[in-house]
Amino acid sequence: MANSLHSSTSFISNPVNFGHSKIPAQIPGSVSFPSRYLHNFNLNKSDRRVLRVMACSGVEEVQVDVSLSPRVNAVKPSKTVAITDQATALAQAGVSVIRLAAGEPDFDTPVLIAEAGINAIREGFTRYTPNAGTLELRSAICHKLKEENGLSYTPDQILVSNGAKQSILQAVLAVCSPGDEVIIPAPFWVSYPEMARIADATPVILPTRISENFLLDPKVLESKLTEKSRLLILCSPSNPTGSVYPKNLLDEIARIVAKHPRLLVLSDEIYEHIIYAPATHTSFASLPGMWERTLTVNGFSKAFAMTGWRLGYIAGPKHFVAACNKIQSQFTSGASSISQKAGVAALGLGYAGGEVVSKMVKAFRERRDFLVKSFGELEGVKMSEPQGAFYLFIDFSTYYGSEAEGFGKIENSESLCRYLLDKAQVLLH
Ligand SMILES: Cc1ncc(COP(=O)(O)O)c(C=O)c1O
Repeated sequence: MANSLHSSTSFISNPVNFGHSKIPAQIPGSVSFPSRYLHNFNLNKSDRRVLRVMACSGVEEVQVDVSLSPRVNAVKPSKTVAITDQATALAQAGVSVIRLAAGEPDFDTPVLIAEAGINAIREGFTRYTPNAGTLELRSAICHKLKEENGLSYTPDQILVSNGAKQSILQAVLAVCSPGDEVIIPAPFWVSYPEMARIADATPVILPTRISENFLLDPKVLESKLTEKSRLLILCSPSNPTGSVYPKNLLDEIARIVAKHPRLLVLSDEIYEHIIYAPATHTSFASLPGMWERTLTVNGFSKAFAMTGWRLGYIAGPKHFVAACNKIQSQFTSGASSISQKAGVAALGLGYAGGEVVSKMVKAFRERRDFLVKSFGELEGVKMSEPQGAFYLFIDFSTYYGSEAEGFGKIENSESLCRYLLDKAQVLLH
């Protein structure tokens, strides 16, 4: 197969056109093995429309201009909405649905972390914190980055936010000008291109191959970089493929990045601790010459099962972090004081979260092994064994075009997911 993303055996059936290149949509076909919920949102068109409503009195007619900003139009709605709605409707009708779609551990937040949050409330630690986060938490993050990642930062080079998602969006907003290109290897976490669009930047999607474990080929990167290239987003371990970039490949990428003075790198390391030996994690900023141009993002949601606490952070050169800080100061202000206390406790669990985290990683590994083995027994199904995170990105294209009894034709990954929901009450996306 010359290029799995362009061939007819592609793992997706509805390629989306971004400019001139057809790239895979990160849509049905992905399984997350710790998940329960799907994000669900729907956006209106921003064409100019006037809604006529009767005023409360019932006498007057009020006209409301319901047109939206073109920015909203530029953002694509989640492709998982329809199927999630269907699953929710089934669940509401009393059908038990196995949800394998959302990127959320099914473990509860470890007790020591939860107690730190409870204590924060009891002790009245419930006021605004500094915008960038408490010095206590930022110092703990500096310590973690030094010990675990070999990265030296001072607290003024750290910005704590309401989740890593906010950290990434603020970074994109802070460094990209309209028309800049944000380079994103596919398959990607669906939010990256949309964040680029929100910043009026252009997402440039670089294909990867299943045969190369979905890792970015440095030659492809080199061929796509232009003067407009502003930000390369790397995610390792990856959502949705579970690929982990080995150090020698990151070294090669770094050598290419170094030739482009305008190019910065956002290294999303949120799945860092969820990694399966012998794979090991390398922080991009630790590579020669990369500290100055790398924004390292990490958070607490995944490894510490803290999705609802909304806590993430960015580390980078002061100039860039201060810019993100400024955006945050007019946006949400600091993260929750309670969550920040819990974050300190999480980082206090020891190297890579200590035993508490390694227990969860062990469970994820067992689930990965089970699913890889089970799907591996299905004829024609292709996948690359995840080395980290908790997702499987599966090529089911062998089933497309076949008739399923009582369902009809399985046209593509979307209809396959519908079929699985119908027949087995399992939600994939
Ligand atoms: C790759 C990646 N980065 C960042 C995030 C954001 O995590 P949070 O905002 O919960 O910290 C997620 C969540 O799904 C993710 O998968």
